[in-house]
Amino acid sequence: MIKIAPSLLSADFSQIAAQIALVESAGADYLHLDVMDGRFVPNITWGPKVIGDLRHLSKLPFDAHLMIEEPDRYVADFRKAGADIITVHFEACVHLQRVVALVRSLGAKAGVSINPSTPVEMLQDVIGDIDLVLVMSVNPGFSGQTFLPNTLKKLRAARALIDMRNPACELEVDGGVGRKNIGAVVAAGARVIVMGSSIFGAADPAGELRALRKLAEAPAGTR
Ligand code: DX5
Ligand code: ZN
Repeated sequence: MIKIAPSLLSADFSQIAAQIALVESAGADYLHLDVMDGRFVPNITWGPKVIGDLRHLSKLPFDAHLMIEEPDRYVADFRKAGADIITVHFEACVHLQRVVALVRSLGAKAGVSINPSTPVEMLQDVIGDIDLVLVMSVNPGFSGQTFLPNTLKKLRAARALIDMRNPACELEVDGGVGRKNIGAVVAAGARVIVMGSSIFGAADPAGELRALRKLAEAPAGTR
């Protein structure tokens, strides 16, 4: 089964309750929340207060993608705000194992994300301690960027690592995914698909989500 995680970065925050209801009713599996600090990435979004305010709008698991430096200083606040999965960046953590252990000790699932220029091999010594690998298919910071084709090779490598060392771990992909490449990322091993602009930028986001799921779950060769 494929999980679809709409990214609220592309949603219209002046109508956020309606936007969340729309994707939830269309069968979204997670809500993906991009936290940016203006340092690790060149953009700024929201912190625990906003996530806490959104929490009562949805029953879906909150998938918090922390694109921030020193995430260990904030994970408890994001957990308290209602994040169910907390993903930190490999590149932002000097003591990564300690951070993921902290996330798990708070009762959340621990994810680790790698930027496009970080090899999958860097996860070898942490793969047994985490619940999710997030392979970035764009340089993080903005929605609506172009999918980097090298990602497919990285997804295949991450799939092999997960299957061998921690089969329960989820494999998520984020950035530039839409109708034209969702089949390819699934074929490469991704099972949680983050999509921002391709869902919320569509005239009918709920219909688009359903169409994307159909493409993702179609047998290879028929997409
Ligand atoms: C990018 C964020 C993504 C972003 C994806 O830095 O991590 O979650 O919202 O947006 P699209 O799907 O439009 O590339
Ligand atoms: Zn993201």
